[in-house]
Amino acid sequence: MRYIKLFKIFTLSALLGACGFESVSTESTFATDSAAQAVAAGLSHGEYVARLGNCVACHTTEDGAPLAGGLKMNVPLLGNIYTTNITPDAETGIGNYSFTDFDRAMRIGKTKDDNRMYPAMPYTSYAKMSEQDMRALYDFLMTEVEPVQQANLSADIPFWKDVRWAMGIWNLLVHDEDPYQIASDQNDAWNRGAYLTEGLGHCGACHTPRGIMLQEKGLDSSDDDFLTGAPLDFWSASPLHGNNLTGRGRWEVEDHEEFLLTGLNRFGTAIGTMVEVVNNSTRYMSTEDVNAVAVYLNSFPASEDEGEFIYDDTETQRLLSLDFSTQGAQIYYEYCSNCHVTSGNGYYPYQPALAGNPGVLDPDSSSLINMTLNGSLRLVSSEGPVSTDMPYFRQLLNDQQIADVLTYIRSAWGNSASAIRIDDVAEIRAATDPTQNDDIFVLRMK
Ligand code: HEC
Ligand code: HEC
Ligand code: HEC
Repeated sequence: MRYIKLFKIFTLSALLGACGFESVSTESTFATDSAAQAVAAGLSHGEYVARLGNCVACHTTEDGAPLAGGLKMNVPLLGNIYTTNITPDAETGIGNYSFTDFDRAMRIGKTKDDNRMYPAMPYTSYAKMSEQDMRALYDFLMTEVEPVQQANLSADIPFWKDVRWAMGIWNLLVHDEDPYQIASDQNDAWNRGAYLTEGLGHCGACHTPRGIMLQEKGLDSSDDDFLTGAPLDFWSASPLHGNNLTGRGRWEVEDHEEFLLTGLNRFGTAIGTMVEVVNNSTRYMSTEDVNAVAVYLNSFPASEDEGEFIYDDTETQRLLSLDFSTQGAQIYYEYCSNCHVTSGNGYYPYQPALAGNPGVLDPDSSSLINMTLNGSLRLVSSEGPVSTDMPYFRQLLNDQQIADVLTYIRSAWGNSASAIRIDDVAEIRAATDPTQNDDIFVLRMK
């Protein structure tokens, strides 16, 4: 991988040299230092880094003190582990960590007492952070966070399954400890966007498929699997590459910016786990940073040519004349059309369009099923809640009806995605049943 990157840089600068062009500056600190962006966003440097890294999402429980840990996370095949107390309490938190101890934890996943961490802590992404940002983050945790005395919980993994000791070998095989390297063939904004997306934002922890060792199959844009979408806690972290129907091919830079800041845009809205990412993290980005991430994401090519999305109003006309083509059409008319409209176009920005929505066309239907069964968390902005909530249909509709209505929205108005299997609805219904299940899955690595 690195060989290919070097090769690219070589040939490009050789070419540019030959044509008498200057190559793009590599001296910028914008790519790897967040200090100025923190000022622009009105936060201290360290808090800004902590926001963009979204430490709070995992290191806080619903009713717990900020960053005191205790959230249960499932490691597939092994069992549950708990996030730790990262407040500066000397006894139960990280109060005794020196900067060097902290840096080692964040980059190679080794705690102060030399225990290896499971990569449920996304150190494989945080390793890309610059020293300036790491120091600011350390100072923030040590001086701006309230110390909380709360002992860490030990993992629910039987000793014979506990493979912590093997994580050093895992690191050797799949982990890259190097901080972000500026790509000299790309401009400042792209590099800053790559630094935030691949590193601090750890977008790949959810959006990149995992291999047999549970490693992310690609850690940067040189890898074709990077950000191509992955299953997660019975949601699907959507593909972010440039595919025209199922990816972000029709999104402009401005659409990405709006999505990161508000959680919605003309194509759709954040649901499931992504709501927390927007609420805790991306909405705090400075104008320059949100542009950088958008420029970077917008540069991802499509993995295949999926053709154009062409809106088709046949179904709209049929719904308006109460001529229901299928069972699903009738359910849509009765239960969904007052918000998402007979045209499938919703009422932007209050209720999302379903026509042409890449989330609706996602080959992995788990987010759609989960959303229809359980609704979603609410997006917030500095002005308060953004939209009305999607109601949950767990009690109102049975598995067959949910499969029918989702199959319908995946085929009406020019949408063309596969039918929903009733077994998939049944499986997600059981797994997310609030009366049967106390597990909070945050990162189901599969
Ligand atoms: C996706 C969830 C997740 C996010 C996001 C996350 N962590 Fe963690 N972190 C964990 C888990 C899980 C552990 C415990 C790992 C283990 O036990 O193997 C952990 C452990 C740690 C430790 C070792 C602590 C100790 O008790 O010795 C530190 C330090 C840490 N995290 C800091 C951070 C910081 C700082 C951020 C934000 C930049 C962050 N984490 C974001 C999941 C997360
Ligand atoms: C009361 C209004 C309302 C009704 C009725 C409603 N929805 Fe929604 N729906 C929303 C809102 C609002 C959202 C955006 C997410 C949020 O804020 O909860 C949404 C989001 C969605 C999404 C996710 C879109 C995306 O961008 O990923 C799907 C799929 C969906 N609804 C399907 C349905 C189906 C199917 C029905 C009928 C069974 C339905 N909705 C009924 C308001 C509604
Ligand atoms: C903790 C897991 C997680 C992390 C981290 C995460 N995402 Fe997501 N993301 C999801 C899930 C799940 C979805 C699918 C639900 C949806 O459509 O909103 C999603 C959806 C999206 C979408 C598509 C939304 C739509 O309407 O179709 C975009 C764009 C996106 N994420 C960008 C990002 C970026 C950029 C980052 C890093 C800054 C990121 N995500 C980090 C879980 C995550």
